[in-house]
Amino acid sequence: MRSIIDILDLSTDEIAELVQTAQDIIAKPADYAEVCHGKKLATLFFEPSTRTRLSFEAAMYELGGHVIGFSEAQSSSAAKGESVADTVKTVSCYADIIAMRHPKEGAPLVASRAASVPVINAGDGGHNHPTQTMADLLTIYREKGGFENLTIGVCGDLKFGRTVHSLINAMSRYKGLKMYLISPEELKVPSYVKKDVLKKKGIPYVQTTDLEGAMPELDVLYMTRVQRERFFNEEDYLRLKDSYILTPDKMKNAKKDMIVMHPLPRVNEISVAIDDDPRACYFKQVLNGKYMRMALIMKLLKEAGTI
Ligand code: NCD
Repeated sequence: MRSIIDILDLSTDEIAELVQTAQDIIAKPADYAEVCHGKKLATLFFEPSTRTRLSFEAAMYELGGHVIGFSEAQSSSAAKGESVADTVKTVSCYADIIAMRHPKEGAPLVASRAASVPVINAGDGGHNHPTQTMADLLTIYREKGGFENLTIGVCGDLKFGRTVHSLINAMSRYKGLKMYLISPEELKVPSYVKKDVLKKKGIPYVQTTDLEGAMPELDVLYMTRVQRERFFNEEDYLRLKDSYILTPDKMKNAKKDMIVMHPLPRVNEISVAIDDDPRACYFKQVLNGKYMRMALIMKLLKEAGTI
């Protein structure tokens, strides 16, 4: 049974295929309106979410399917002490595919081993978030015309920000990538990401605290929120939370065609005054996420022989 736990579970050919499917859905949504008729998606969210859960749900409805699930651990049997494995064995009896978000790194992988239906990782702790990366990839593809020869700056909480880890992994497979890793000292990209991805693949990268200095070089600026829920103490969070705030003034040094991305939710990292700048792409990412999730649900259900 094929599950998607890590963005690298998809080959670059498969990413290209999913991007093409998403583009086709955007062009001809009516052609897809009944593809998952009568099938059920379960959304098992043990952690808060707006976009990821609702976009999975909207995606399944737009494919003609149904949705069951829960949106907090407290309303599931996890609150009684049930294991993730037992929960997904149970849900496999009701649903054709599962999207799971969990605060523990690796929980969706454990779930995929116990489930008899495909499991999609909708975010596991500070580790990975492959479907956010799929939304990011479709956005980059549509805005920049492809994935090669890009200089990407990721900025903010690069330690706990799972979307950044998945994005670095995904982009590391395309030619001509250069990375700027912009963060406070305490929130640098984990060394395993640098060692296993950037160094291993010989990708040029600059690690810096200086957003303004990096700005003129960037084709893509990917802002992130400081991940409050993963901090051990509130004082550190309060000290670091406003490390980077993107303002129209700072955008003056950016390329005219640089795009600004953010997985959202935004707290304070991007001034609302940027929202009207044509380079602001974060709400396009939200919409693109729904199309890529539609493409992924279809692909996994086809491979499982369910549709
Ligand atoms: C992200 C996440 O959950 O990791 N949100 C999302 O899914 N779009 C980013 C975040 O919470 O900061």
